[in-house]
Amino acid sequence: MNNRTILITGASSGIGKVTAKYFAERGWNVAATMRTPEKETELAKMPNIKLYQLDVTNDESITKALDGAIKDFGKIDVLVNNAGYGAVGVFEKATKEQIQKQFDTNVFGVMNVTRQILPYFRAKKGGTIINVSSMGGRLTFPLYSVYHATKWALEGWSESLQFEVRQFGIKIKNIEPGAIKTDFMTRSMDLFKKESLKDYDRYEEIATYNTEESYKSAPDSMVVGKTIFKAANDSSYKLRYPASGQASLFLFLRRLLPFGVFNGLVRGAVEKGFKN
Ligand SMILES: NC(=O)c1ccc[n+]([C@@H]2O[C@H](COP(=O)([O-])OP(=O)(O)OC[C@H]3O[C@@H](n4cnc5c(N)ncnc54)[C@H](OP(=O)(O)O)[C@@H]3O)[C@@H](O)[C@H]2O)c1
Repeated sequence: MNNRTILITGASSGIGKVTAKYFAERGWNVAATMRTPEKETELAKMPNIKLYQLDVTNDESITKALDGAIKDFGKIDVLVNNAGYGAVGVFEKATKEQIQKQFDTNVFGVMNVTRQILPYFRAKKGGTIINVSSMGGRLTFPLYSVYHATKWALEGWSESLQFEVRQFGIKIKNIEPGAIKTDFMTRSMDLFKKESLKDYDRYEEIATYNTEESYKSAPDSMVVGKTIFKAANDSSYKLRYPASGQASLFLFLRRLLPFGVFNGLVRGAVEKGFKN
């Protein structure tokens, strides 16, 4: 019987929730952490899932959740840094607070949880840290400059970190989804707005329309849950796992093509209908 334990941040919806169910159905113990566990009913009913309150921007909540999961399940084998959201729009419209909050969650939040689990994994001589990054951590689209900055930060940080912790049997793994149907594009999104700034209106409207159109054919979270499962069970030190057909294709093209050519493809897709 599998008695491995996984702790997931941001398990209230989307990728985190599907991943919690996927692992639980395969015999794992799951510490499903979220900001408001009192609202979660479905996961709470599953026998090998326990809920913990954890906000990645609050160190005390992280300590309590890690301690609680270790006490209840005996150990943690895998941490999934999944919590995150998109702060989106033309950069000039972003407020300082919106930018700060985006980094507080997507970058410093991941570092907060990782800083707390590393001493435990080091003492245990092993553990796997899986970061839900994005294909947007290695390529870019317009309107996502701040979000991309956080995911590129995650990619650079984890690529360096894996050198340091490998000697302790600690594996770092980045999951890189393409567009996935979750609350990411709706409830969770923080839009940059500045009514007085009109100069970008047409560009923003067209780029938003084209981006939303491309999301219509996006797969659901299961493709990412399965990739996280594969990474958690991979005994190698492989760092990166593109997590959808779109992500594999786009990352391949980004590697293969000269930047100018790839940039032209992105403009052709996202700026379709825009002429200046
Ligand atoms: N969907 C995509 O197209 C896509 C593509 C590439 C990468 N990703 C990444 O996938 C991850 C999961 O996103 P998703 O698509 O599943 O979107 P989602 O359905 O909106 O889920 C986001 C999760 O993050 C949680 N969260 C936000 N701030 C938090 C905080 N301070 N502390 C703890 N939890 C927090 C949310 O909790 P609440 O319920 O409390 O708001 C929610 O559980 C993110 O890191 C995102 O960047 C998504």
